[in-house]
Amino acid sequence: MSTKTAAVNGASTDAARKIFDDIEAQFQLGQDALIKITEQFLEDFRLGLSEYNQPMAMIPTFVTGVPDGSETGTFLALDLGGTNLRVCEVTLLGNHEFRLKQQKYKVSETLKTGEASALFDYLADSVDAFLTEFSSAVGSPTVTDIDNPFEPTPPAVPLGLTFSFPVEQTALNQGKILTWTKGFSAKNAIGNDVVQLLQDAFDRKHLHVRCVALVNDTVGTLLSRAYTAGSCILGAIFGTGTNGAYVERVENITKLGDSPARAQGGLMIVNTEWGAFNNTRTTLPTTPYDNKLDRESINPRKQAFEKFISGMYLGEITRNILLSLIDAAPRSLLFNGRSSTPLNTHYGLDTAVVSEIEEAWESGRTDRIAKVNGTVPQWQSAHFTEVNALPPQDVDRLERIRGILIQRLELPAEDVSLCDAATVRWAASLVANRAARLSGTAIAAVLVQTGNATLGGGTSEPSENIIVGVDGSLIQHYPNFQTRLRASLQSLVGEAVEKRVEIDLAKDGSGAGAALCALQAIKQGL
Ligand code: GLC
Repeated sequence: MSTKTAAVNGASTDAARKIFDDIEAQFQLGQDALIKITEQFLEDFRLGLSEYNQPMAMIPTFVTGVPDGSETGTFLALDLGGTNLRVCEVTLLGNHEFRLKQQKYKVSETLKTGEASALFDYLADSVDAFLTEFSSAVGSPTVTDIDNPFEPTPPAVPLGLTFSFPVEQTALNQGKILTWTKGFSAKNAIGNDVVQLLQDAFDRKHLHVRCVALVNDTVGTLLSRAYTAGSCILGAIFGTGTNGAYVERVENITKLGDSPARAQGGLMIVNTEWGAFNNTRTTLPTTPYDNKLDRESINPRKQAFEKFISGMYLGEITRNILLSLIDAAPRSLLFNGRSSTPLNTHYGLDTAVVSEIEEAWESGRTDRIAKVNGTVPQWQSAHFTEVNALPPQDVDRLERIRGILIQRLELPAEDVSLCDAATVRWAASLVANRAARLSGTAIAAVLVQTGNATLGGGTSEPSENIIVGVDGSLIQHYPNFQTRLRASLQSLVGEAVEKRVEIDLAKDGSGAGAALCALQAIKQGL
């Protein structure tokens, strides 16, 4: 095809420009908005710490310390997240390192939305299959740094459960499921103790395994990063869902009243469940594309923040923008007005495809300025320029994106121009940039809450690095996610603090964290 494609498929009118400009304006998040959101975060933290049943759950986890890397032992871990189910055997080596063998199992849509007992039976079956295949260390006397944890013998294999959904914990090995998120809706689970549901499934199958600890993936991430780095103040997930857990002073968790846990004082990890931040959407910069997503979702008016940020939703917001451009009147602004099965299907545009599109654009790119200052690259200007006026390497990259669109969105080649490729890339970057900037507000709020930063930025540089452990597909794979997040963080807490924040991947953190929790549970005699 000719690269001499005129602007916006020949429709470079003021009306078209206005449509693009309007969309772009709706996705911008200026400094004032970022500050307001962070302040609201701090207010919601305060509310959630002082009362139960608040939108931001601020769940006390009963994990009262972080590991120092000297812990040892071998444990089973079961990790039910958003996309995968994993069974792992984790060996804590005691020198800040751990070894992990793992097997992934798929959780079907039927299991996610059917009876909870079927889901938990499947979890037990997966553990059984894993033990049959990798029965080496687990099952033999496994806990090496304490005496006979399970007298009388034979000891059951201790298992830590990473359950990445909101659970109101009452002890390290107890907690009621509050609600499902991330597309799960299994029946007869809400209100039940998740450890009991799992243990019942083990017992039904006569498996000699005992679930001794329950942990959210964010808590697992925090613990495992502390194990490998020596300290950590925040564990955060930016994947299918988003959430953070941080180390809080027990005296600040006033909703614990005069319970023994509170009386003991010290520190406790709090699972914020920040995915539910601002469900009323009074502070979040909601657009019609977000409202459509929310209305059509399995959990309308819930998990507002998560719906702006996480991997489950970014593709869907982008799809909503693309559909509005296809439908634009009086003249379509995309794909000659043509749609396709993936584009017409709910969740038909996977965030992985959007990420691939951004990757195709970014690879080989020389202009890095937009990344550094965190603003959206002004590539919508490609709509209003003759495409062949672009430098040849940019045309190459647009060609690559065009190829991805033809293949992944099942569009006829003649309906996908290079301008369309630029348009889709632009839409993707608006959505992802907003997500990353919002993610920065969550991290900034935790830094302020824990006394590591002041909003607006103090002048003095902290003497030690501030360790943050992260995990999840977005932060791992989405191009520039961390760079964009950092730009937002820097604008909120100042350069001196931001450059002291070490954001590192806690690889396999959920598994290692579950093992560390299992160890703590056994030490507590649970
Ligand atoms: C969802 C869950 C939360 C989890 C997060 C990341 O927000 O509610 O518990 O930590 O996803 O997986």
